[in-house]
Amino acid sequence: MRTQVGIVGAGPAGLLLGHLLHRAGIETVLIEARSRAYVEERIRAGLLEQGTVDVLTATGVGERLRREGLPHAGIELRFDGEGHRIDLAGLTGKRVTIYGQQEVVKDLIAARLAAGAPLLFEAEGLAVRGLDTDRPRLAFRQDGREQVLDCDILAGCDGFHGICRDAIPAGRLQVFERVYPFAWLGILAAAPPASHELIYARHERGFALATMRSNSLARHYLQCRPEEDLAAWPDDRIWAELHARMAGRDGASPVKEGPILQRGVTPMRSFVVEPMRHGRLFLAGDAAHIVPPSGAKGMNLAIADVVVLARAIEAWHRGQGLALLDAYSSTALRRIWKAQRFSWWMTSLLHRFDGGDPFEHRVQLAELDYVCRSAAGALTLAENYVGLPLEAG
Ligand code: FAD
Ligand code: DHB
Repeated sequence: MRTQVGIVGAGPAGLLLGHLLHRAGIETVLIEARSRAYVEERIRAGLLEQGTVDVLTATGVGERLRREGLPHAGIELRFDGEGHRIDLAGLTGKRVTIYGQQEVVKDLIAARLAAGAPLLFEAEGLAVRGLDTDRPRLAFRQDGREQVLDCDILAGCDGFHGICRDAIPAGRLQVFERVYPFAWLGILAAAPPASHELIYARHERGFALATMRSNSLARHYLQCRPEEDLAAWPDDRIWAELHARMAGRDGASPVKEGPILQRGVTPMRSFVVEPMRHGRLFLAGDAAHIVPPSGAKGMNLAIADVVVLARAIEAWHRGQGLALLDAYSSTALRRIWKAQRFSWWMTSLLHRFDGGDPFEHRVQLAELDYVCRSAAGALTLAENYVGLPLEAG
């Protein structure tokens, strides 16, 4: 099999890259290890930056997002039992939108299938070869049969556990990593959201986040131990913990209970590899970097990477040479490190650090107070939260 751009992985990064390149008249083949149902049901991120919404809308896949997405003009930070609103729209002129990652994935899959562009499900990438040539190849297996995809360019959009990053020879990549001493227990519940806007709560018992997927579906997260056993968290314990961490000074909790439809534990890490390229292989999204979810940046960064990558591939395809492809990694990394910094900072600001010294604890409270009471502090949070401009890198 032969194509111009081979794409490994049908998450937000791979699907959007395929969509952007198809619109530019560039041939792509997309290889996804899992089934269509699996990738469409996988519940993950849910908050889109303004820039992400703009890209999806401008490229014709924003119709359902416009109808069903929930635009948010602010968020609440809660500590010492008191809520403080950060006026995102007032401070930055931008909003964020709640729309599940799996809905973005569904919309992009529908667009690709409608366009008749090749998307192979249950096709598992096995090995990448010929990276030092101008004909990289992907060996993959579908229906028990091994096949080879020959391409001009290979895009590794296969997430953190994919094969593309590991295909780069040892010693060529520099790895930057931080593992946090906690995780998030996330639930999806058939209940109204705690509030019409998101609440990020810092509490002595640990961090909690109240978000949503619709006006009748709540999504909540609780800071927990990294090795947390879900069996130790019956429904009653989850609700009691959410009420305790979200309660105001008067003890009243905004959290509304309902049947829990889904639950899971997400580890927290910061991870970046540099460069995001080796020969004709380009990494994008979680294949190259992971952020802790506190800043809601994971999916947005994956989208920003492929906007830069698609532009560079288009320039090469139009005969403008390799300059933009050569610059891809450094351009993408400028934005990635700012999102890493912000995600690390939100994590440090809002979580309980066991064994942390009392000095650091006081500094954490002072920082929260500063962010909520100073216009400059609030603006710093807001402009990063809604997303730095895509063009600025
Ligand atoms: P993925 O979405 O991981 O897509 C990679 C795709 O590649 C997958 O479909 C995978 O099946 C496929 N693949 C892997 N290996 C192969 C192979 N060998 N051959 C073919 N295909 C392959 N971010 C937030 O901002 N907020 C959150 O609340 C949040 N929650 C999360 C919860 C969980 C459990 C996880 C894992 C992530 C969460 N994230 C969250 C992060 C966010 O979902 C990711 O940043 C985002 O999915 C990145 O998109 P991607 O396309 O780079 O990778
Ligand atoms: C959601 C997840 C996040 O990590 C976040 O910071 C905001 C919202 C969500 O799942 O809706």
